[in-house]
Amino acid sequence: MDEETRFEFEDALRRMPKLELHLHHEGAAPPEFIRQLAAEKSVNLSGIFDRSGSYRYTDFPDFLRVYEAATQVLKTPEDYHRLTLAVLEQSAQHGVIYCESFLSPDFCGGGDLPAWRDYLAAIEDAAGMAERAHGITLRGIVTAVRHFGPDMAKRSALCAAETAGDFITGFGMGGDETKGHQGDFAYAFDMAREAHLKLTTHAGEFGGPQSIREAIRDLRVARIGHGVRAIEDMALVEEIAARGIVLEVCPGSNVALGLYADVAAHPVKRLADAGVRVTISTDDPPFFHTDMTSEFIHLHNAFGWGLADFTALGQSAAAAAFCNEALRARLIKRLEAF
Ligand code: ADE
Ligand code: ZN
Repeated sequence: MDEETRFEFEDALRRMPKLELHLHHEGAAPPEFIRQLAAEKSVNLSGIFDRSGSYRYTDFPDFLRVYEAATQVLKTPEDYHRLTLAVLEQSAQHGVIYCESFLSPDFCGGGDLPAWRDYLAAIEDAAGMAERAHGITLRGIVTAVRHFGPDMAKRSALCAAETAGDFITGFGMGGDETKGHQGDFAYAFDMAREAHLKLTTHAGEFGGPQSIREAIRDLRVARIGHGVRAIEDMALVEEIAARGIVLEVCPGSNVALGLYADVAAHPVKRLADAGVRVTISTDDPPFFHTDMTSEFIHLHNAFGWGLADFTALGQSAAAAAFCNEALRARLIKRLEAF
């Protein structure tokens, strides 16, 4: 590709409509945004940034520590209103027309239901503003934080069940996968299922294939966050494909956190070739110096994927989205119009 063709191709990748199913709300906060809030509130967060102003962490546990430190300045519904506007504006610049973000009652009100309702109202209001301004639709997945333990997860599930509806459509779990077992959280996931929420959990990121098996058996999830380490057990890959479980794959995140040396070494293509339904997301974009356009560019460079492959990925994401059928039909129309 000559330089001009390359520029046009990358611009087409940026403009093409995208769906993103795996994005942590706080993890999408631009570092400038967190620094601004810290300055307004006179909180000293200098330790979590490097000299260039990016988030600084050494490994996955340290990443979780820095993530949680940044949330110290996100203390009111108004803070989440501003955060939501910043996050969605940024996503829309990369062609994202639909996004599901992980929202944690632990960070939004400490697991208290009335407080959670106030945060949610602010997030929904900002999402409406972003939809009108940028044509991007947000849906929320209430998310337990695994290392906060099963009791906090139950409180999050109660918040999820009580606010399930058009906006809160799913329940999930992130956090430190090396702590405990997926099944420790079965009560919370059962509550969410009873409330007709769709389910996803992080598995097969810092846990191996057994963690994915437990997620399928004990939590009965429709989707899995990451799930990439299924590749270490081909019988499991076949099971995931046969069950139609969708993987929310975040290649840039996995490379940044040291799971794979680069995207060329990432198993996403092998999983897709084995018949697994894969989707592509950014996870915590500023932490990993990524965005949806960069993810697509890296996949093109590593595997030669082109516009037809990315269109197919968009259709898979639309099919797997935790939204109602009317919205799904609208999203598919927008993908087809490109
Ligand atoms: N929370 C935010 N990002 C995460 C990740 N990549 N894995 C687990 N928990 C997270
Ligand atoms: Zn994640």
